[in-house]
Amino acid sequence: MTSSTAPWGNTVDVVFSDDIAFVYFNRPDKKNCMSPTLNREMYATLHALELDPRCKVVVLTGRGAAWSAGMDLKEYFRETDNESDAFKMRIREEAAAWQQIKLRFHAKPTIAMVNGWVFGGAFTPLTSCDLAVASDDAKFGLSEINWGIIPGGNVTKAVADTMGQRNALYYIMTGETFDGKKAASMGLVNESVPADQLEKRVRELAKTLMGKDPVVLRAAKEVFKRVRFMDWETSNDYIYSKTDASNLRSGAEFRQGAMTAFLDEKKFKPGLSTYQRKGKGGAAKKAKTAVGKSKK
Ligand code: COA
Repeated sequence: MTSSTAPWGNTVDVVFSDDIAFVYFNRPDKKNCMSPTLNREMYATLHALELDPRCKVVVLTGRGAAWSAGMDLKEYFRETDNESDAFKMRIREEAAAWQQIKLRFHAKPTIAMVNGWVFGGAFTPLTSCDLAVASDDAKFGLSEINWGIIPGGNVTKAVADTMGQRNALYYIMTGETFDGKKAASMGLVNESVPADQLEKRVRELAKTLMGKDPVVLRAAKEVFKRVRFMDWETSNDYIYSKTDASNLRSGAEFRQGAMTAFLDEKKFKPGLSTYQRKGKGGAAKKAKTAVGKSKK
């Protein structure tokens, strides 16, 4: 398996396969907890992937037994407790920069492939991914209350947005763990599948996303994430503006082709499948490659 070191460094790794960039939390001996170094390397990685033609979809996953065991209690918390206020604010900003901004509004579609432990601070990048698929036996926990802090790093907001009041407060206040099936039933992840099906299912989902117009897909997810906090009139105006902007930026070739195929040629039903761009064959034509045989 693998990839070059730049720009991801040691704490993050990337494997390219079938136009997917599998981005790994790469500290398996530390259950992939997030140190200041990892936060910086993850930002650099995601930033680079926005312009990398080998990446049409980002899949965020973890090496070893964990997706991520949250913030690094040693390097992120204890070792910085006696640093200056400015230093502490800087490392918070670096965590937020990738977890809450770069990942949340990434240029490419993002899928969390949840393979194991997910604790505390890891809920923020989890909910920043556009979609999430968990292994049935993945283990989640808002463990902050177990070691004496409230869920910060916007974890409280992340779960308020995805799990609903009763579920979020239950797990915030008890610190109990739950599995992938429960996460799916609460809407924290889209679905949960047996561990041996996880990568297959994520690849299928990625392929579905690759069949869409990438400019429109990016605008669609960005619009969703922003309109939730707007009033109806502002939202309506914003959505039309983004619709016009994405038509302009994409050239609307996909849209025009789809309308012709449906209205004139009667070859395609948009209610039932994705329009296949002429001569491009969507994503479907790409050959399958095992993750281990990464393309450079
Ligand atoms: N911060 C710092 N170090 C962590 C860590 C974290 N969040 N999670 C795991 N590690 C380290 C452990 O200290 C240990 O380091 P060591 O080998 O130097 O002793 C190593 O990772 C392996 O963890 P260990 O606890 O031995 O593995 P385990 O399989 O017995 O338990 C967990 C796994 C995830 C249940 C356990 O490590 C844990 O509770 N982690 C903390 C989770 C948490 O509360 N995160 C919220 C942070 S906001």
